[in-house]
Amino acid sequence: MKRIGILTSGGDAPGMNAAIRALVLTASQHQIEIVGFAHGFNGIFAREYRVLTNQDVLHIIQLGGTILKSARCAQLQQANGPEQAATILHELAIDALIVIGGDGSFRGCMALSHCYNGQIVGLPGTIDNDVDGTDYTIGFATAVDTALDAIDKIRDTADAFERTFLVEVMGRHTGYIALAAGIASAAEQILCPEYGTVDITDLSNDIRRSQQNYGKGSYIIIMAETMYAQGATMLAQALSEQSGTECRAVVLGHLQRGGSPVGADRILATKLAAYAIEQLLAGRAHLMMAGEQAGKLGLYPLATTGEKHKKADSYLLNWQQTTLQQ
Ligand code: F6P
Repeated sequence: MKRIGILTSGGDAPGMNAAIRALVLTASQHQIEIVGFAHGFNGIFAREYRVLTNQDVLHIIQLGGTILKSARCAQLQQANGPEQAATILHELAIDALIVIGGDGSFRGCMALSHCYNGQIVGLPGTIDNDVDGTDYTIGFATAVDTALDAIDKIRDTADAFERTFLVEVMGRHTGYIALAAGIASAAEQILCPEYGTVDITDLSNDIRRSQQNYGKGSYIIIMAETMYAQGATMLAQALSEQSGTECRAVVLGHLQRGGSPVGADRILATKLAAYAIEQLLAGRAHLMMAGEQAGKLGLYPLATTGEKHKKADSYLLNWQQTTLQQ
C-alpha cells in the first residue's frame, strides 16, 4: 500500500476536515501518501487532485465544510462511469480509496468496486445520522447543537409574543435531528417520520389544550423536513387557521450543515479515520465502513449501510409522546 485516494462526497458535514486530517496523519506515520480528490467523485473524472501533506492539514480540525470540497456526482451513475473512474484510479496508482460521505456515496463506492482493483473503505459523514453500522455519523452532533442554538433563540421571541413556532430541520427521510433537537429544546411537539404522518386537527387541539393547561405561552413544534409536502409555511398557515393562534414557520435549512464541529464530531472523525487506515493496512477493510457502535469501533459492510436498520431512540420517542402531551 503506497497511495491512498480520499474524497468527501454528498452533503458536507462538520467534522469532515477532522477526518481528512486524521487520515493524512495516520497514513504518513505508515509512509503512505494521501491523494485528495476535489468535489467528491467528480475530482476523479476531472483528475482534480493533490497530494496532502501533514502541513496541509495543520489546524483544519476546527473548520466546518471540507477543504476537499464536496458534491454529488452524476457521472459515476452513468453506465460507463464506474469503469472510467476506475481507469483513472489505476493510472494514478491509487491502491485504495477512502470515501467520507453518506449511504448515497457508499452506493457510488459499490458501483465503482465492480471495476476498480483497489480497496474501498467508507467513513460515515453526514448530518442526517441515517447510516447503518454506526451509532453516530460525523457531523450529526454539530448539526443538533446548531439547530438547538437557533431553537433556543426562537423560544425567546416565541415566549415574548406568546406565539406558536414551527421549526423545520434537516434529515432527509429520518427524524434523528428532529428528535434530538426537539428533546433538547423541550419542544412541545416533534413531527418526524418515526411518528407517522402529520394530523393538523390533532396538532391544533394540542396547541389549544396546552394553552388551557398552562396559559397562553410559547409552543414550539420541531418538524423533520419531509413531513409536510407543501412545506413548513403552508403547515404553519393551516395551524394558525385551525388552532386560532398565530403560528410562524422557520426553516433552518443549510445553516445546520455549517459551523465549527463540536468536540464529539472531531473526536469521532479522528477515531474512525485512524481506525480505517489501520484496518485497511491489516487487509480487513475492503468494502467496509468504519463505525462505532455501543462504544466499540468496528467495520460494517458498505453494501448494507443504507438499509435503515438503525432506528431513532425509541425510549425518547415514547417519552416525548407520553410525557409532553399532558
Ligand atoms: O444529507 C444531508 C442533507 O443536508 C439532508 O439533510 C438534506 O435533505 C439534503 O442534504 C439537502 O441537499 P442539498 O444540499 O443538495 O440541498
